[in-house]
Amino acid sequence: MTAGHDTFPVKVRSAAAADVEAILALIDLNVPSGELLPRTADFVALNADHFLVAERDGRVVGCVHLDEYAPSLAEVRSLAVSPDAQGAGVGVALVEALERLARVRGYTTLFAVSNSGDFFRRRGYEERHIPELDRERSSVSRFKGVHAKDVASPG
Ligand SMILES: CC(C)(COP(=O)(O)OP(=O)(O)OC[C@H]1O[C@@H](n2cnc3c(N)ncnc32)[C@H](O)[C@@H]1OP(=O)(O)O)[C@@H](O)C(=O)NCCC(=O)NCCS
Repeated sequence: MTAGHDTFPVKVRSAAAADVEAILALIDLNVPSGELLPRTADFVALNADHFLVAERDGRVVGCVHLDEYAPSLAEVRSLAVSPDAQGAGVGVALVEALERLARVRGYTTLFAVSNSGDFFRRRGYEERHIPELDRERSSVSRFKGVHAKDVASPG
């Protein structure tokens, strides 16, 4: 699938083993700020089926992880866009593709724990209490907003 304006085409696709390094680099950029949790190469490789990447001119410029939380509930995790590619629709393309994947995999609700509340609100996510999260939220993520969106297709 392709998104972005004419001079900045972006392709979002499933991640492959060859993308692990690029995904880790994108995540690592956002660990010091506390925005993303660090991941290991083994974790990303084992979960590659649940990662999407955005590619521009053959280079991975963004990633996102569909992380199952419960049979009908999944989390938008490890959403990151390379600083030189931000503000051009890559993040939106990744989130929209993740929502399609979530629907295909039978999840009805997606949520994100993030300081980027405005970004998610503009994509139709609303602040919501997710009871399943209560017992697991770390002392850091507890201070972030939780935004959720129902993604099940009608009918
Ligand atoms: C949050 C983050 C993923 C957003 O990625 P991004 O690629 O900059 O996001 P986009 O460009 O898709 O969207 C940003 C804005 O650009 C706008 N935009 C969309 N298409 C565009 C285009 N073709 N040209 C210019 N702007 C565009 C979007 O509408 C959006 O504006 P809005 O939120 O006011 O509606 C990115 O800032 C990031 O990596 N942040 C650090 C990590 C992080 O905070 N992750 C979230 C934790 S889950």
